[in-house]
Amino acid sequence: MKQGVETAAWRSLAARAEETRRVTLRGLFDADRERAQKFSLSAVGLYADFSRQRVDRDAIGLLAGLADDVDLRARIEAMWRGDAINVTEGRPVLHTALRIAPSSSTGPGGPAIAREVLAERERMLRFAREVREGTVRGSTGEKIELVVNIGIGGSDLGPVMAVQALQPYCDGGPRVAFVSNVDGTDLAKVVETADPAKTLFIVASKSFVTQETFANARGARAWLAGRLGEVAVPAHFAAVSTNAKAMDEFGINPHYRFMMWDWVGGRYSIWSSIGVSVAIAIGPTAFESFLAGGAAMDEHFRTAAWRENLPVMLALFGVWNINFLGLPTHALLPYDGRLARFPAYLQQLDMESNGKHVAMDGSPLAIETAPIVWGEPGSNAQHSFFQLLHQGMPRAALDFLLPARSSADNPEQAELAVANCLAQAEAFALGYSEQQAAAELTTRGVPPDRVALLAKHKAHVGNRPSTIVLFQQLDPLTLGKLVALYEHKVFAQSVIWGINAFDQWGVELGKKMCDTVLPMVRDPAANPPSRSLAPLLAKIGDLQQ
Ligand code: F6P
Repeated sequence: MKQGVETAAWRSLAARAEETRRVTLRGLFDADRERAQKFSLSAVGLYADFSRQRVDRDAIGLLAGLADDVDLRARIEAMWRGDAINVTEGRPVLHTALRIAPSSSTGPGGPAIAREVLAERERMLRFAREVREGTVRGSTGEKIELVVNIGIGGSDLGPVMAVQALQPYCDGGPRVAFVSNVDGTDLAKVVETADPAKTLFIVASKSFVTQETFANARGARAWLAGRLGEVAVPAHFAAVSTNAKAMDEFGINPHYRFMMWDWVGGRYSIWSSIGVSVAIAIGPTAFESFLAGGAAMDEHFRTAAWRENLPVMLALFGVWNINFLGLPTHALLPYDGRLARFPAYLQQLDMESNGKHVAMDGSPLAIETAPIVWGEPGSNAQHSFFQLLHQGMPRAALDFLLPARSSADNPEQAELAVANCLAQAEAFALGYSEQQAAAELTTRGVPPDRVALLAKHKAHVGNRPSTIVLFQQLDPLTLGKLVALYEHKVFAQSVIWGINAFDQWGVELGKKMCDTVLPMVRDPAANPPSRSLAPLLAKIGDLQQ
């Protein structure tokens, strides 16, 4: 398995990058009047405009060659076959099997997996329907009006992002809330206004041992049992996990348990029963449409030529920006307020997958891998951190996510969003020269001695690369496509970098250390703190008095 950095294409790209640094995006647009048409791509109902990436046709050819040199096609097939491509955990990676059509007799990983997936999906969707319709009721016979998903990381970020994104599709079901943070504030806020008789908690945890989730689940159980009695617990708790024993111990009703599998990573699990809160919120039909969006992107990723392949092109431009143009951060800027949690969702997807320091074989990496992903809904971001993106020294690559129609049913404001997004993309790409600024200031009658100084401050270098991902409207099908688009982008990049995108050893050390630190926090007299923590723990103790 060749790492991208070892290939001939990588060396050619490195040479090419030298030349690219001398060329501006304005220059590229001036040189080719059809650049915007030529550097864009339509597939599976999405339209991506790559013309503001700092590349020409030759560079795209070299990037596609890189995908060939690392044998991306074979790695995609290995994933689909169910090979144990998660080498450190010895597991296949089959989240794509979770979105097969209900009529499929086989899919990624083969027929046995397809059967299990479809059977469990049916159970989960039936449960979602029954909660929505009021067939599943609380212990006193009341209809469920509030569903609370308790989970963290992949057992929270996907569902919370999707429920927010698909709010217009949430009619007719109970309200869905999310509890994740360990400090108890999320739970306190949710139970403040909740009626226990009408509340259903879903404990979502692949492992069922995650400290934060367990603390919140115990707190929720105590709150409920304190109001309705222990006997009420089975009617008010459902769970999704691979850990049947832990669900037994917690007292989860066997009919309210949903299974998942080791071959689904937490950050890829929204498609599984971890998405039950989403299915309850939007209903089974809309949830199936979300799955169908993912499946459409799967088919496209697996079959399209690299230059027509949306996830692969996003991956290649990402590699180009990070490794060749030295842009280590990636801002996600949705121009639909309902995608407010999409950047947070992608943070886990991208950074927990590809934030690695060794290659598959354990050898140290000589190159940067995952970008630092961040972002906010676009027009809010314009009024906070865009200043730095336009004129600051740190540089970022940008993805704009743009709906043509507003999901808020407000065409006038949708036009404002579209115009703002396009204007920003143009400003980032083309900039505004000192000469342009000086000319404008002079026309406005600014005294000549001020013009020179102000023109320097007002100039934008431009040349900031961005991609615009355009779609008609945010609906379940489109959201499924967008999520799978970024999943496959992350996987394709991991293949190029030669890393395992499906483990996350980096999160373990802090968890393990917490086991040592917790007794010091709880009882410092019995568990003397380490020298590095003693002063802080003493201070915390004082402040807690
Ligand atoms: O923080 C690491 C992690 O293992 C994530 O990968 C995962 O999504 C999250 O914790 C939650 O894990 P679980 O679903 O097992 O509670």
